[in-house]
Amino acid sequence: MTPDPAPTLRDHLREQPPQDFKVKAGWRALIQALRLRRRLGGPASAFASQQAVDRALSRPLLAPDVADLSAVKSGLKALLLSDLDEEARCAQAQAVDAALERLLPQEAQEPLWVAVTGWPTGVNAATRARIVGVDPPLPGPLPPLAAARLRHRLHGLVLAGFTLQVEVALPDGQVLPALPREARADTGRWGRAAPWLPHLDEEGRYSLTPRPIAEAQARRLKGQAGVIDLFCGCGGNALAFVLAGLPVVAVDRDAGRLDLARRNAAALKIPTPPSFCLGRAEDVLPGLIAAHPDWVLFVDPPWGGPGELAPDLDALLPDTGLRALILSHPRLMMKLPRAFDLRALPPRAGGFTLRLELGEDEGGDGQTVRMLTVSAGLGG
Ligand SMILES: C[S@@+](CC[C@H](N)C(=O)[O-])C[C@H]1O[C@@H](n2cnc3c(N)ncnc32)[C@H](O)[C@@H]1O
Repeated sequence: MTPDPAPTLRDHLREQPPQDFKVKAGWRALIQALRLRRRLGGPASAFASQQAVDRALSRPLLAPDVADLSAVKSGLKALLLSDLDEEARCAQAQAVDAALERLLPQEAQEPLWVAVTGWPTGVNAATRARIVGVDPPLPGPLPPLAAARLRHRLHGLVLAGFTLQVEVALPDGQVLPALPREARADTGRWGRAAPWLPHLDEEGRYSLTPRPIAEAQARRLKGQAGVIDLFCGCGGNALAFVLAGLPVVAVDRDAGRLDLARRNAAALKIPTPPSFCLGRAEDVLPGLIAAHPDWVLFVDPPWGGPGELAPDLDALLPDTGLRALILSHPRLMMKLPRAFDLRALPPRAGGFTLRLELGEDEGGDGQTVRMLTVSAGLGG
């Protein structure tokens, strides 16, 4: 994900003595003194509002001068002294203002040229445009704040083993604007849409394929003879397949979860539910392939827990015999974590096809890549 940003002015000042006063009150006193200085005919300051101060505090500082940090902190404390006359107040404010100017590099004001590179091979322009969320598409100019947001959101993001780079052409000596605090919060979070199946246990809830993605995966299997869903969980994919008219065998080794999948099929009033099969994939797959040699094998193994995960093949499919059987199946579709390195898959005739699955605009994560669908032998 995005590398840790440099410490901000706020971080540096927190460490800087003196510590024995209310810094917030010091900033308020500075703003008042800077306004007073202006009213008395002095120069305007870039730090004469709470908003400007908040933005300054959020700015990263690469190599701040300790003397300047000290001037700011002790100046803020001095401004709280009750017996300062107007002239002394203005002089103190002037010293803090000048130190802040020296500490904070100039933020870019004009549009900046931005490019996003490092995409996994095979991701089409429409998907790239949705993820970047910029029209007309990049490379192209962006307002500085939009460039900063994009960089924060995508720079260093690993997709299918490839690392995205957001390259911003900054004039010498300028920096990107600091993002407001809320924009710096985690941007890769899952959407908040309610789960689409009613019967779920904890693992079933976080591993449930969202309905639009499960439906899109099912649509891509239209015309196939049937599907073996080898790790069916509470049924997110298996039920989307049967709803799309495909015959399905749904396997899980967990009897409780298989029962939840059955109850979900009943809740959706599905006339032809999957044929449910309790068992370990490694035990039942050879027999299922023998019974349905031309069916698609759909594989959504456990990723190891909720959240941002990047398990490799050893973690996803530890049984090497099962793994070989799966990866050589003539018609294959796999749901994998978004960071999974595609280059770890063994070569096969026709290769693998990658699709980045995005969240939903209504769920607030329409630009977020939630998972990969990797297929083979399905055409297109
Ligand atoms: C990621 S969940 C499947 C989620 C499902 N696609 C959905 O959308 O609801 C993986 C499931 O694989 C099952 N599982 C794990 N190891 C297994 C194995 N060796 N054989 C069969 N099932 C297994 C787990 O019990 C879990 O329910």
